[in-house]
Parts: sequence; C-alpha cells; structure tokens
Amino acid sequence: MDIDNRTVFIVGATSGIGLELARRFAAAGSTVIVGGRRTDLLDELSAEGFTGVPIDVTDAGSVARARDTILHSHPDLDTIMTMAGVMILEDLRDPAHFSAAEQTIDTNLLGTIRVIDAFTPHLLARGSGTIIPVSSGIGFLPFPPMPTYAATKAGVHAYSEALRAQLDGTGVEVCELVPPAVATTPEHAQHNSRALVLADFASEVMDLLQTNPTPHEILVKGVLMNRWAERDGTYDELVAQRSQALAVLLPNRQ
Ligand SMILES: NC(=O)c1ccc[n+]([C@@H]2O[C@H](COP(=O)([O-])OP(=O)(O)OC[C@H]3O[C@@H](n4cnc5c(N)ncnc54)[C@H](OP(=O)(O)O)[C@@H]3O)[C@@H](O)[C@H]2O)c1
Repeated sequence: MDIDNRTVFIVGATSGIGLELARRFAAAGSTVIVGGRRTDLLDELSAEGFTGVPIDVTDAGSVARARDTILHSHPDLDTIMTMAGVMILEDLRDPAHFSAAEQTIDTNLLGTIRVIDAFTPHLLARGSGTIIPVSSGIGFLPFPPMPTYAATKAGVHAYSEALRAQLDGTGVEVCELVPPAVATTPEHAQHNSRALVLADFASEVMDLLQTNPTPHEILVKGVLMNRWAERDGTYDELVAQRSQALAVLLPNRQ
C-alpha cells in the first residue's frame, strides 16, 4: 500500500506503537487522526498537527461518536488501524483475575470488532481502503503470565482472517500487524532486554506496509520466531522458556 497519501485513523495512538506509527504516516505525507481516551494527550497531539478524537473502544456509543466526527471532518478516510489494547498480568489461581480477563476481552477483542464494525460500511461504500488490526506475537506463542491477553490476540488473528475472506473482492484489504515485544518506555526496555527499539520496529513496519500487494500480515524479523514456532517445531520449548517468567512476574502464586 502507499503510505504517503492516506487518511488514517489510528485508534490507540496517544502513546506507544500507535503514536510512533502516527508520526511515521504523517512524516510520509499522510493525514492522520489519532484516537484514545486520554484527552490531555490528544490535546498535545493536536498541537503537533494531528486531529485528535476521543474514543473508548469498550463503549459502543463512544465508537459511534468518533466515527461520525471523523467521517464528517475526513470523508476521504481510507485506513483504520485498531491499536487500542491493554496488557494485564493474571494469576489464574486467584479468582480475582476475572475482572482483568473481562477488561482485556472488552478492549482488545470486542473493542477491535466495535471499531471495525463502525468503519467497514464507509470503506465498503468507497470501494477501497485498508483495515489494519493489531494482534501480537503472543497470539501465536503464549506468554503464560498474560493468558487472556494471548487469547484476545489469537482471536484478533482469527477474526482478521475471516474478515479478509468476507471482504474479498470489495476493494477493502485487511493487513494484520503482528508486533513482537517492542520497548515503548524506558522501563519496558529495562524489564525486557529482548524488546525491539520502537524506532527500529516502526521503520521495519513502514517498509513492509509499502510492499505491493499489501501483505496479509506485517511480520518484522523479530516476530518470526513467535509466528512460526508451531510450524518450526520449537513451540513446546519456547512456551516452557517463557513460563519461567511466571516466577518473576507472579511470585506470590500459591
Ligand atoms: N509493546 C509491545 O511489546 C506489544 C507487542 C505486541 C502487541 N502490542 C500491541 O500493540 C498495541 C499498542 O501497544 P503499546 O505497547 O504501544 O501500548 P500503550 O503505549 O499502552 O498504548 C495503548 C494504546 O491503546 C489505547 N487504549 C487502551 N485502552 C483503550 C480504550 N478502552 N479505548 C481507546 N483506546 C484505548 C491507549 O490510549 P488511552 O489510554 O489514551 O485510551 C494507548 O494509546 C496494543 O494493542 C498491544 O497489545 C504491543
């Protein structure tokens, strides 16, 4: 896909990967609308030249309001990226984990579906456009301290596959972004020395997005180990390795 002439709405662009990709699309020449709940950050981003639109993906009314606002101001919107997500540690032996599970599913999976449902009619009516759902390497290779997170991201992957099949022939393409661990804050980099540097990750993503035809999945080199673990026969060994993090991240398990 071209990246220099797009009108893109990134849902979940007030920080992290979404914000970095918003800046990359804007630097390439595209018009970018950024969304999220933190209105103070949206105001700061407006000063940077972005259009900021408040949106809470767990609230269907909020999603509909954001959609109406954006399609009024930017009727040429052609790209939606569903970046909004939460990553929560859960101890499955503690029944209190259930509220984290609900929040994770409501945001990462149902939130993705709400946003896609809201904008798909517009994209179908224009007969072209790109939906970029955001899953995770953890959707393909679970990280045991974040069980519901892994489940939602596996769900986003499966949903994206079905969405692509259902939209085949309409001109609307589905390009799933599958990030590996990416250090979005200095603390994150400290906790996970293997996490990719955000700027390097974003450069690789923007390069891959420009591949023609648009790939079904954006797979930077750092995620290939997760993506193909089952095929490569490394899955059991890698899950066992990643289970060691339970001792550090959930030390109070009984
Ligand atoms: N960083 C990684 O290592 C990594 C790896 C694989 C996949 N991912 C995925 O990449 C995405 C971005 O992650 P990140 O690391 O950049 O995290 P982040 O900095 O915490 O960004 C998350 C974004 O989602 C937004 N968000 C959260 N809940 C929302 C809600 N209910 N409604 C609307 N927006 C909401 C946040 O904005 P507000 O708080 O302003 O609402 C923020 O802009 C997530 O989907 C994550 O699962 C990240």
